[in-house]
This record gives sequence, structure tokens and C-alpha cells, in this order.
Amino acid sequence: MKEFIENAKKHFENIIIEQLARIEQLNSQKDWMDFSTISPIVIGIVGGDGIGPEISKHAKSVLEFLLKEQIKNNKVQFKTIEGLTIENRARVLKAIPDDVLEELKDCHVILKGPTTTPRKGDKWPNIESANVSMRRELDLFANVRPVKVPELDIDWMFFRENTEGAYVLGSKGINVTDDLAVDFKVITTQGSERIIRLAFEYAKNNNINKLTVVTKANVVKTTDGKFLSIAERVAKDYPEVEWDDWYIDIMTAKLIDPARRSQFKVLVAPNLYGDIITDEAAQIQGGVGTAGSANIGKRYAMFEAIHGSAPRMVEEGRIQFADPSSMIKAASLLLNHIGYVNLSRKLDMALDICVVYEKDFKMTGRSNGATGEQFTQYLLETLHDDNLEKKWSTFQAQTKK
Ligand code: IPM
Ligand code: MG
Repeated sequence: MKEFIENAKKHFENIIIEQLARIEQLNSQKDWMDFSTISPIVIGIVGGDGIGPEISKHAKSVLEFLLKEQIKNNKVQFKTIEGLTIENRARVLKAIPDDVLEELKDCHVILKGPTTTPRKGDKWPNIESANVSMRRELDLFANVRPVKVPELDIDWMFFRENTEGAYVLGSKGINVTDDLAVDFKVITTQGSERIIRLAFEYAKNNNINKLTVVTKANVVKTTDGKFLSIAERVAKDYPEVEWDDWYIDIMTAKLIDPARRSQFKVLVAPNLYGDIITDEAAQIQGGVGTAGSANIGKRYAMFEAIHGSAPRMVEEGRIQFADPSSMIKAASLLLNHIGYVNLSRKLDMALDICVVYEKDFKMTGRSNGATGEQFTQYLLETLHDDNLEKKWSTFQAQTKK
């Protein structure tokens, strides 16, 4: 018994040492990267696993189309990064192989296809998720996930903390004995403050007078309690933004309450709660296949779909029917992040037309729907259309009626 306790104490000690060192790093963080001064901006393209390479290919072709001029003038460069596949990761027993991590760090921003996350009992070794590892290694602390359903008057912007909470030590739990398993959840002042502040800044800069903090601070008193009390403090700096707080359970209910849900605008949550509510929100929008996500840090940023690699689609030979709109949405978030705000807006309008408004064109994930290739062609044609903006406004006006 004594030995078990000593082991657990040592394990805990190491975790505390690591986390205190991380806080030191957070305290000495540099400023945000200024993309207006960088040329060329290097965009890494990572295919990933399963349907990843297929939908990433389509998203890349949309970026190539929109950035034609910038590519020609060498203001933007693409860098294809192979090797972030489950086969390769399993071979070297690493969430991200060292050489791949180095290549990622040579880019400014990354467009990443979904990667397989192993779990106990799989055919793969139970290594850490590549996503979780990349978010931590590149310090991508803000997971920003927009969800919009114009006909339901829903326009949500989620800010999910991305480097702490139940996730960051998700592979560092300990089986103290055969019967006792303990996981660790970590929340820091610095980590909470930077995501909460980013959410408030977003609300303020976009004239949105409503921000909602989501925790379970009534039960998870120490860590969630800290997150909430930091929100209270940060909120004082933004008197123009009204804010409230909800617990994660009732929040999941309210997101499907037609009487309440359109009142929510900007939402900020610790990691796991953010993971859960953004899948729910994406489902309301039309499925996780329609939602893109920005993982943003001060130095690097990575853009991806919010869903996984869809192994079932691969097994059933349906890769070509995978919906690339999540990755294309991610590409739009990327354009916005590196300063091509108008191109991003144009792409959003085209996506709205092709995904939300154009009811005749359907992706079903199966042979009774369109292929990703057909969808991308249709999207490119929509982007070519000189009347894009007018078409979009007409659709919007009709929907609002
Ligand atoms: C997401 C995904 C990931 C997460 C998985 C693949 C590790 O669900 O991006 O939301 O849980 O963060
Ligand atoms: Mg998720």
C-alpha cells in the first residue's frame, strides 16, 4: 500500500512541477503574430486520416482559387506535411512524430484534416490524440467555433479553452491501484484569463452585447470555480458587454430551447464543456460535417473540421461522399486570421449559399447525395459568380421574412 501511495505522490509531484513551469511560460508570453509583416505566409496542409486527405484536398483547392494572386506573387506559400497519419504515429508511438512537429513549426498557419484518436482496446496503441498534442505543443489556447443558422436566428460564437481543463492531462492520469483510477484537471489563472479576455474582446469589437460563461462551478468547485471567478474579474474591464453564467447541463438544454437559444451570442467555456456544446451546436446547424474550427495561439494557428476521421465512411467505401464544407469553413477562418478578411467573407457567403440556402443540392454522405468533388465544383462556380453578394443578400432577406 505504502508503495502505491509513494508512486502516486511522485506522479502528482511531477505534474505540479510541469504545470508550474507552464505557468512561468505563460507569464513570459510574447505578443500576437502580425501577419501584415510576414511574406510569404506559409500555410501547412496536413491531410490526416480517414476522410481527412480527401476533404483537405478540396479545401486546399478552394484556398488556391481564392489566393491565386498571392500565390503568384509569393505572398502565400503552401507546404504539404505528410506523416501525421495514425500508421506513422503508431509506428513511432508518438501523438505527433518529432519530424512532423518540426515541419508544423516551420509554418505560420496550418489547415489540418481530422486525425484518428486511439482509445483502449483499438487496433492502435493508446497514444495521445494528435489534436490535443498539437494544441498544447503550439499553445493554441483558443478554439473558436462559429455556428450560424439564419432561419432560426442563431448566431453563436464559441470560445473553447484549448490547452487546459480535463484535456491537457488526459493522458497523464494514474491507476493508483488496480481499483483506483485518478485523472487530473488543471485550470490556471493565466490560461483562463487569456481565453475569457479573447471572448470579451470579440464581443466588444463586434458590438455584441451578450457573453455567456459555461462551467459546472457549483459542483467542480476548485477548477471551474476559478474559471468563473476570473470571468467575473475580466468582465469588469468590459462594462459594455452584458454577461451571465450557466452550468453546462442546463446550457445543453437551452441550446435546443427555441424560446431562449437565439439570445446566446458569444460563449466561453473550459475545454471539455466547450467540446461537448460545440458538437451539439453544430448538429443544430446541420451536423458536425458543416462546422469548422480555429485553434488560435499567439504564434501559431491551426484550422480544422470539428469532427473526426469518420472510419465508418472509409470502411464502407464512401470517402468521396464526405462533406468538405467543414474543412472549407476552416479555410475561411484561416483566411480571416491571416488578414484576408474580404476573401473570408466571400467564402462564407458562398458557403451559406451552397450549404444553407440551396436546398436542392444535398450532401448526404452516401451515394444518394453529391460527392465532395461535385460540392467543391459547385462552390467554386458560386465564388466565380459576379453576383455572389447580391444573390446572398436576396437569400438572407427571404430567410428573415
Ligand atoms: C474536437 C474533437 C477532439 C477533441 C478529439 C478528436 C480529440 O472532438 O476537436 O472537438 O475532443 O477536442
Ligand atoms: Mg469534439
